Amino acid sequence: MDTDSLLRRKQDLYSLLKSQHEAEMKEMNHYMSVLSRTNNSIIRNYIHKLLDDGLRHIEYISTMMSAIEGASSSLNLTKQGIIKSIEEEKESKDLLLKCVSLADDLETKSLLKSIIVDEEHHVKILEHIEELVSGSSQQQG
Ligand SMILES: [Fe+2]
Repeated sequence: MDTDSLLRRKQDLYSLLKSQHEAEMKEMNHYMSVLSRTNNSIIRNYIHKLLDDGLRHIEYISTMMSAIEGASSSLNLTKQGIIKSIEEEKESKDLLLKCVSLADDLETKSLLKSIIVDEEHHVKILEHIEELVSGSSQQQG
């Protein structure tokens, strides 16, 4: 096969992967909204399975797309990208704190507080990732 048709195959593959990436995201969004509206534990388990698989598929597809993109693939793992994520997690926490102050029933309050604890943990994780990323870029020169 000549270089042009190899390149075209790569571009076609990339655009199909991109469509599938969007489709998986859309499915997951739908499943998440279904999850919030059912209490049936069997159905919930199935939906969790679908979400787990969807997340894995998105991961695989993203990896394939990054491989085609080449060097620019680590775009989201830049120091700036991580700092932005940390800011977003902190914004989530602030928003959830406002929700806690507006919520009147105890169950809602305590669920919201548990999400806040998770968000604080996410910030810690992201700060560690930031350390790891700046450490590895130092090694690279
Ligand atoms: Fe989070």
